[in-house]
Amino acid sequence: MMNARFSRRSFARLLGLSASAASLPLHALGSAPPTGSDLAGGRFPEGFVWGSATASYQVEGAVREDGRGPSIWDTFSHMPGKTHNGDTGDIADDFYHRYLDDIALMKELGLKGFRFSISWSRIFPTGTGAANPKGFDFYDRMIDALLAAGIQPYCTLYHWDLPQALEDKGGWQNKDTAKAFGEYAGVVAKHLSDRAKQFMTVNELSSFVDIGYREGRHAPGLRLDRGRHAQVAHHAVLGHGLAVQAIRANAKPGTKIGLADNPAAICPVIETREHLEAASRAFREENAKFLTVIMEGKYTEQYLRGLGADAPKFTDEELKTIGSPLDFVGLNVYGPHWVRASSSPKGYEMVEWPASYPHMLSDWLHVGPESLYWVPKHTHTLWGVKEMYITENGCSASDVVNNQGQVLDTDRVMYLRNYLTQLHRAVSEGVPVKGYFLWSLLDNYEWADGYDRRFGITHVDFRTQKRTPKLSAEFYKAVIARNGLA
Ligand code: NOJ
Repeated sequence: MMNARFSRRSFARLLGLSASAASLPLHALGSAPPTGSDLAGGRFPEGFVWGSATASYQVEGAVREDGRGPSIWDTFSHMPGKTHNGDTGDIADDFYHRYLDDIALMKELGLKGFRFSISWSRIFPTGTGAANPKGFDFYDRMIDALLAAGIQPYCTLYHWDLPQALEDKGGWQNKDTAKAFGEYAGVVAKHLSDRAKQFMTVNELSSFVDIGYREGRHAPGLRLDRGRHAQVAHHAVLGHGLAVQAIRANAKPGTKIGLADNPAAICPVIETREHLEAASRAFREENAKFLTVIMEGKYTEQYLRGLGADAPKFTDEELKTIGSPLDFVGLNVYGPHWVRASSSPKGYEMVEWPASYPHMLSDWLHVGPESLYWVPKHTHTLWGVKEMYITENGCSASDVVNNQGQVLDTDRVMYLRNYLTQLHRAVSEGVPVKGYFLWSLLDNYEWADGYDRRFGITHVDFRTQKRTPKLSAEFYKAVIARNGLA
């Protein structure tokens, strides 16, 4: 089990480095040596988990079946003007009914792992109270089918679909939601951990906290002031910590616990010493309210000072819970943030995007393969994390089905090839990334962007639900078959 409060200094001490050396970012000191010729030719370590990822509201549909209660995304997506084209997840990929066919697709690709999320309101229709057995039935059947296909289940407990009944009581503004999340996580882990051995508490803290409660572009669509928003962020990391403890207490032996976060993907603008140091510092500070407090069990001084009177209210006991030891860290990595050294008090600054900077179809998704090197690298060197997964990586593209019925998404293949090359660079330096989950298996409901932004390696015709593997699926299948790039 990894000690979440493994400081950089103690990590450096462990490596036998001097106190002054300990103040340098560890990557500047040279990391673990390359793991040998077995990684030559773009190969990944044996047993590397090649997977793909989805999330309940984005694929399942069947929103009113088998006793499922409404979630904040049902409410939000049905509000006029909130999503592209008024799209909702009512049907999505109809995965709830088609999961067997989709598992056959996964098997055909050679997937070793499948990351999915549990819809909280299928299990507890109003967030708490008595569990709904029919909610479990679906996940039981799905997990059994995955295992029968030789695919390991990786289970996320919260991918943004909070039961509406809890939002009605304040949602993540209310500390009771963090407690309810812990209880739900414990019940699910108790039920599923005889077969599912990897659990992730929350998915992308900044997405549901910042976009949902501060920017209002995602459910529940609130625009809270700075102080209330900081309190929501605190309740979210507290919920994570309570869930870690509840899973630990209830799961069968051998269960591994982590989260799937999307820390700001800070990359040095040029790989020279001064920018490397600035990037390492920036990674820790820019992620202070989520991954850093989880890894260190405390907020950074800079974060609290910056908020002044708006800083969240918390107790030492809560910080301890938030920093509960994890077995692995999952990282969702998409676009980079370029950082350079500066003489400002922070010692770094973010670099503005030039107008011509390339991005994928989603305009927020700037292309930066180096992010798939730097995010695990920082996480390893700052906190000594020993087991990591890339729990999401992928891109949107303007896919079209050609007159031969094919989708030749060469841009997505280009994106994946370059990102995986950088992941291989990290793994070759001894950064302990154990698996990679491509987002996404299927085109699906891309939240406020509705069905307009396709992230799948399998094309979905949303009128007929026909699935067509794209060129990128063929690419990924070849990567899996040879356990790496050519
Ligand atoms: C991250 C989120 O976890 C997922 O739900 C979303 O669809 C992808 N990013 C693409 O935006």
